[in-house]
Amino acid sequence: MLDMSPSEQNLRACLSRFPSGVTVVSYQSVDGPRGITVNAFTSVSLDPPVILVALARRSRSHDLMARLPFTVNVLRTRQEDIARYCASSPDDYSWLPWTIGASPPRLEGALAHLICHPWRTIRAGDHTLYLGRVETLDYGDGDALGFFCSRFVPVPWPIPSQPPLPYDLFEQPADRP
Ligand SMILES: Cc1cc2nc3c(=O)[nH]c(=O)nc-3n(C[C@H](O)[C@H](O)[C@H](O)COP(=O)(O)O)c2cc1C
Repeated sequence: MLDMSPSEQNLRACLSRFPSGVTVVSYQSVDGPRGITVNAFTSVSLDPPVILVALARRSRSHDLMARLPFTVNVLRTRQEDIARYCASSPDDYSWLPWTIGASPPRLEGALAHLICHPWRTIRAGDHTLYLGRVETLDYGDGDALGFFCSRFVPVPWPIPSQPPLPYDLFEQPADRP
């Protein structure tokens, strides 16, 4: 029965049923490399290559990251401690495993990196959507860090075999000749 209101509590609980990966979005602040744990990350466009991250307007990163290039670091299961740390708005980010000399800063050993230049921002309620144009990227294989029902969960690798999809993941069936 659909009888619940979208109060903040209900909305959080409902949305927590959607499993996600976990990223740290990193950028160069005046005090050095900095990062914020973000799971509101999604692909937007392949041409041009655009992704978005949604940052709470009340977060410190919201203003600090404005108009700066940033890296989306997709975390591995073993990087849960980094996810927890970057979700606590600490003062010291210097001990994190930053790749030396990288601009914008990125985390060594992440499962994937997307280096983004600011493309558009869209105000959306108490968040702002930061759309980034992907300039370069890399990725590896291995366990990913997931988030489900407000808990960190492992997303194990390798993935059990399964039947192929009926069409290319990023191709609309209607696009085919
Ligand atoms: C798993 C997880 C996912 C999160 N996703 C987001 C997100 O998508 N956007 C956001 O603004 N905050 C998100 N947060 C909260 C921020 O990481 C947290 O508020 C952080 O302290 C903000 O840091 P800052 O204020 O130093 O920028 C998430 C936290 C966790 C634990």
